[in-house]
Amino acid sequence: MEENRSRLQADLRQKIIESRKIVDTYRAIIDAYIVDFFHLNHWNRLPPSWIRCFSNTPIQRLPDLLSFETRSSETNVWPLAILALQSLFRRLVHTRIKPIAEKHQTDPNYTYYRQSGLFKKSVKLKKRHEIEQFAINCSREPLENCSRTLVDIGSGQGNLARTLAYGFGFRLCCLEQNECFIRVARQKDSELWRRLAKLEPEWQNTATTAHPVHLHEKVNLDHIDPVAFVQRLRDAFNAEKEQQSHPFQFGLIGLHPCGDLAPSLLRLFLACKECRFVKLVCCCYMKLSCVQSISNTAAYEYGFPLSDFCRRTKLNLSYEAREMACHAIEQYRDRLKSDYHELKIHAYRAAIESIIVRLRPDLKHAGLKGGIKATEVNFAEYCHRAVAGLEITVPEEDVHSEATLARLNRWEEVVKFYTLRLMFAPLIETIVLYDRWLFLLEKGSNARIEVLFDPYLSPRNHVITAYK
Ligand SMILES: C[S@@+](CC[C@H](N)C(=O)[O-])C[C@H]1O[C@@H](n2cnc3c(N)ncnc32)[C@H](O)[C@@H]1O
Repeated sequence: MEENRSRLQADLRQKIIESRKIVDTYRAIIDAYIVDFFHLNHWNRLPPSWIRCFSNTPIQRLPDLLSFETRSSETNVWPLAILALQSLFRRLVHTRIKPIAEKHQTDPNYTYYRQSGLFKKSVKLKKRHEIEQFAINCSREPLENCSRTLVDIGSGQGNLARTLAYGFGFRLCCLEQNECFIRVARQKDSELWRRLAKLEPEWQNTATTAHPVHLHEKVNLDHIDPVAFVQRLRDAFNAEKEQQSHPFQFGLIGLHPCGDLAPSLLRLFLACKECRFVKLVCCCYMKLSCVQSISNTAAYEYGFPLSDFCRRTKLNLSYEAREMACHAIEQYRDRLKSDYHELKIHAYRAAIESIIVRLRPDLKHAGLKGGIKATEVNFAEYCHRAVAGLEITVPEEDVHSEATLARLNRWEEVVKFYTLRLMFAPLIETIVLYDRWLFLLEKGSNARIEVLFDPYLSPRNHVITAYK
């Protein structure tokens, strides 16, 4: 066991070292924000052989660049460096493909399978998929690991907790910093409970069915206090009244704990001896604090990197790189194949940004409005709507200037650059995930990473599970 863990750590360290070399080599592309495409002349950041190749490559050929896991049909003659990168990605990047499920076992002992329609009611497809997969995955954990007691942190409106409690019979305590979400969660719990009780009459007689307990609480990376935390949970579960023969134990779960919440949960897991396992699907890597971002604040701890190895070797990924790692790469790949004219929007935004930085440099990256479709509005209309809320209007002469028209005519270059940049996204995400995995192994836990969600439905789809 110990030998396996050492081997795995060595393998992860080696993969991180090699991945960093790639990031260092292509940092100019990886760190390039697409809105700066025109005024910082991103196209010229590409190596000359890439410019020659991609100037003549139709957009419909680009999806192959984003399918590093399956060998393409080799109809494209890519520059050698791209072929080398694809080969390296196949070796270094963690798979994003969900394994084909073994025949789905539905266990009628679980209410979830008897009343699945009620659990899925009014929950969007993406969330429904995430909740179902996460809950099934929890239900397969060995029970002695947590006495069927789970603590969901950053529980939002409690959708996952509700399914785990009423559908799979777990005891749940939820911690959430947003009070409005807690109110909604309690209301939704009661509604589902009422409906279930009508269909499952024995529920009304059992005093044992546990409702999720919702606590309004913020978990702070800088103040992890395991004793106070566990006491808070004991109180919530009324654990003092339970028999001493059952030691109080629990598993910690988080579905898309954004930014620093994920590292906080890993630290809580390690700090509390009562916490037997942790299971997280993470997101929003750009919100992680780093040594650079905390240096101006009173904070002491930071969220990335976590492992001793990466801290010692001063691993650093820019905000831009971590933001890109959160993109929906599979959905983008499909858009390249079909409705790619929509992607003109990136050129629209970059053209507006180049006007803004000239007229109002203080509004650089101020944030243009999203959700406007390039195929439904012309550029003039887009300008008007995209800057609403900013203290600027785009002057008519700039909207119609020759310089602007020349930029808009280059919209395909913007799409190509965006795609080339996105090619690195799975590598960046892998570095973040492997740093966490290594951190857990360094601290003596057994840990693994698997693909839990279909990446088309839910692009942040890796689950980290660790046990003591
Ligand atoms: C992306 S949402 C996920 C919500 C829910 N787990 C789900 O999948 O639907 C992240 C949630 O974590 C909560 N959150 C973020 N930081 C937190 C912190 N430090 N302590 C407690 N809750 C936090 C947010 O308010 C938000 O509800």
